[in-house]
Amino acid sequence: MSSNVEQIKQRLTIVDVVGSYIKLQKAGANYKACCPFHSEKSPSFYVSPAREMWHCFGCNLGGDIFEFVKQIEGVEFPEALKTLADRAGVTLVFQNPEVRSEKTTLLDLMNDAVFFYQKQLTEKEEVLNYLRKRGLKNETLKNFNIGFALGEESGWRHLFTFLKNKGYSIDQMEKAGLVIKKDTESYYDRFRGRIMFPLKDVSGRIVGFSGRVFGEEKEGVGKYINTPQTVLYDKSKILYGFDRAKMEIRKKDACILVEGQMDVIMAHQAEGARGAREGGVSNTVAVSGTALTSSHLEIIKRLTNNLIMAFDSDEAGLAAAKRSIDIALRSGFEVRAVALPQGKDPADVILVNPEEWKKAINESLHIIEFYLNILEEKCGANSREFKLSVEKSVLPYVLLIQSGVDRSHWVSYIAKKLNVKEETILEEMKKIHIDSKQKSSGVGEIKIEKKETKTRQNLIKEKLAGIMLWKKDKRIVPSFARDKIKSFLENMKSSEKGKLALEAELYYGDMKEIEKEIQTLAEDLKSEDTKHQLEKIANEMGALEEKGDAIALEEKLIEFQKLSKEL
Ligand code: CTP
Ligand code: MN
Repeated sequence: MSSNVEQIKQRLTIVDVVGSYIKLQKAGANYKACCPFHSEKSPSFYVSPAREMWHCFGCNLGGDIFEFVKQIEGVEFPEALKTLADRAGVTLVFQNPEVRSEKTTLLDLMNDAVFFYQKQLTEKEEVLNYLRKRGLKNETLKNFNIGFALGEESGWRHLFTFLKNKGYSIDQMEKAGLVIKKDTESYYDRFRGRIMFPLKDVSGRIVGFSGRVFGEEKEGVGKYINTPQTVLYDKSKILYGFDRAKMEIRKKDACILVEGQMDVIMAHQAEGARGAREGGVSNTVAVSGTALTSSHLEIIKRLTNNLIMAFDSDEAGLAAAKRSIDIALRSGFEVRAVALPQGKDPADVILVNPEEWKKAINESLHIIEFYLNILEEKCGANSREFKLSVEKSVLPYVLLIQSGVDRSHWVSYIAKKLNVKEETILEEMKKIHIDSKQKSSGVGEIKIEKKETKTRQNLIKEKLAGIMLWKKDKRIVPSFARDKIKSFLENMKSSEKGKLALEAELYYGDMKEIEKEIQTLAEDLKSEDTKHQLEKIANEMGALEEKGDAIALEEKLIEFQKLSKEL
């Protein structure tokens, strides 16, 4: 395995890899950027080409190229390895080719299934016609790997037979969620007579399907059927279109969240028509067959703090989206809303005129303002009804806003709008009951790690160790301190060493008289050490006093006095 890693590292620099996801700024021998893993205004994220590592001094994440891909793509090591191997043009060799993880086999199975469904679509003229009527271009069908599952009248085992001939076991087909067991002997395809939308993970690998009924909707069967929970597919973590949207989400610093996969596809197609440019909409994703979860939001949060949601432009539309708005605000997102014409979804709007959708996105409003406008229009400005409905429906949202400054902005905004005192608004907000446990369940809080309190001694050791590692010269540190640091370094992982060296370089890089600084640090370390010993002796003295051992106590006291002169 390690030869794979080494080969990849030889071909890809840390700057290339990180730089393909975020914009890096030169900072001496290193590069810096605003950290993609926590929100910040000034850069504390550094990349060190010499050490082939990155580190954020704000959130304390760091590591090599693999660690970066793991974090930013939200994948485990094997996937990060695969991604970077592809990029480096390295063919992965494993010691034992027989041992393939179940996951890898299931991913292959999914790819074969997609191939089969796509092939079937090319032979179904009526389905193709329908999709074209919905506005989908051939290129879009290809990009999103849209297919068709034959079925019902023509038989229930098309995919089953195909996969069986490919050599997959029934167990594997079942595990992938594509085949259902009827009894011990017989199996049938889960998806029949449906337009197939593959569901992909953050890296674009197919992990599930959403199948839309073709033709008449039948009583008792859903318009959409989705893959159940499998080893590959967890609906609470999959965002439809994310693999194609992620770069744009980062670039535009905003994520547009729509309801259906047709909406995502049309939005991406609208972008493609005119090329990526300002105001485009390929930063669009959807959840598939589930409510928005905090796991979805965690994935988005890595790239942006801004969420734009589309709603029917009436109260009912907003009420339906309450849970999503709620959880997004709790997670610390800046939530904006786009008004949709009554009874239409984004796909309908884009089909008629893509520019209208882009305009709507550009005119999105903060959710609080959006809601206020709707209620004002409905009830009439300054009416009692308006004020009461704002109190009932809008104030709870204000309370969920995580930033105190932003919250207070909206309090004064609403007070002005309702023509009441700010205190009145604040009073009412106090009455609103929010489950305190729920309040802290947002993504915003997940990222904030508790920093362990380090002893002063350890802090000094870290600094000296950092300088030693940076300068690659042990003798730069006085021998007394060196001995203290030695055991400290022996227990340290190499990634931590890299971080310390980078920190020292950034901190002391411009300093002229570093020897003096080292001297001061070493002296500090010495006196900290003395203090530590004194404390120990004092404790021992306390014990001896209790015991009534006067002679030993006297000895300790002399030792104490002698040592304290060194301070
Ligand atoms: N959905 C689902 N199960 C259903 C209905 C809907 O999982 N029985 C999900 C699908 O992800 C769907 C989304 O909810 O894309 C929105 O549903 P809907 O508006 O009914 O579908 P559209 O995406 O508008 O599809 P179409 O325009 O083809 O009717
Ligand atoms: Mn629709």
